[in-house]
Amino acid sequence: MLYTLITGASKGIGKAFAYECASRGMNLILVARSEYLLHDIAKEISEKYGVNVYSHTGNLLDHAIHRKIFDWIKENGFHVNMLINNAGMGYYGKFEQQPLEKHLEVMHLNMDAQVKMAHEFLNATNPHQKRYLLNTVSTGAFQPVPYMAAYCASKAFMLSFSRALRFELRKQQVNVTALCPGGTETDFFAPANMDKVAEKNSLFMMKADRVAKEGLDGLLSNKAVVVPGWYNKVGAFAARHAPQGLVVRQSAAFFKPE
Ligand SMILES: NC(=O)c1ccc[n+]([C@@H]2O[C@H](COP(=O)([O-])OP(=O)(O)OC[C@H]3O[C@@H](n4cnc5c(N)ncnc54)[C@H](OP(=O)(O)O)[C@@H]3O)[C@@H](O)[C@H]2O)c1
Repeated sequence: MLYTLITGASKGIGKAFAYECASRGMNLILVARSEYLLHDIAKEISEKYGVNVYSHTGNLLDHAIHRKIFDWIKENGFHVNMLINNAGMGYYGKFEQQPLEKHLEVMHLNMDAQVKMAHEFLNATNPHQKRYLLNTVSTGAFQPVPYMAAYCASKAFMLSFSRALRFELRKQQVNVTALCPGGTETDFFAPANMDKVAEKNSLFMMKADRVAKEGLDGLLSNKAVVVPGWYNKVGAFAARHAPQGLVVRQSAAFFKPE
């Protein structure tokens, strides 16, 4: 029996992925820190869709958590063929005025943890079967964003990493997709110190279930990059093709703290 492993599955886009995957008959392993949330989601999904759902509580900032998760998977005899590498966080504000620890947490969770999970996934799973790896990135990956400097740089890293990995793995039956959502209605904003930015962007916010559906469709059809929603597609196109100085000034104008 095959399993899909989803990180950051207790809330937001990861939780929406859990429901989307289960609705297509996939068995699930859910990872996040909130044990009670994972427990309730696992129970509801297995009752609703009749699939197997297990959860593993853990902090992805812990140094060896990726090994612990895959050891636990092996001990239980689960066969994972899909990783939705989704857990991530942001932090907003003028760089030097925010605690360095917050910037480092953003970088560790968004880059190191996703890279470690991808590495473990590729080594611990069966190389002879079809496998799927989706990294949740962001439209922030397409341009530098003042006042979210570390967050968007971490996402630019993951976009580049995903594309390179996709090429390396092209002959090994591994689909690799970078999902680049724009603003999405989730719990992302309050801990990121971004409530006001979310309010300003509220007209263009997408629903998490739509983002997850487009992401999963893209992964299954082997798209390199998925940007959900027309507004985000236009923004991503402009960010890649307009003069970079102008792009940075425009982002700064939008994100400037009041
Ligand atoms: N929302 C947006 O507008 C937006 C836009 C572009 C990209 N994204 C990206 O989408 C992904 C999901 O974000 P979201 O919007 O769904 O945010 P969210 O609602 O805050 O969900 C984040 C998830 O990650 C988990 N998580 C956070 N820190 C963790 C840690 N140290 N260890 C383990 N799990 C951890 C959280 O669970 P626990 O708290 O239970 O651990 C939660 O399940 C992130 O990579 C984010 O950068 C979001």
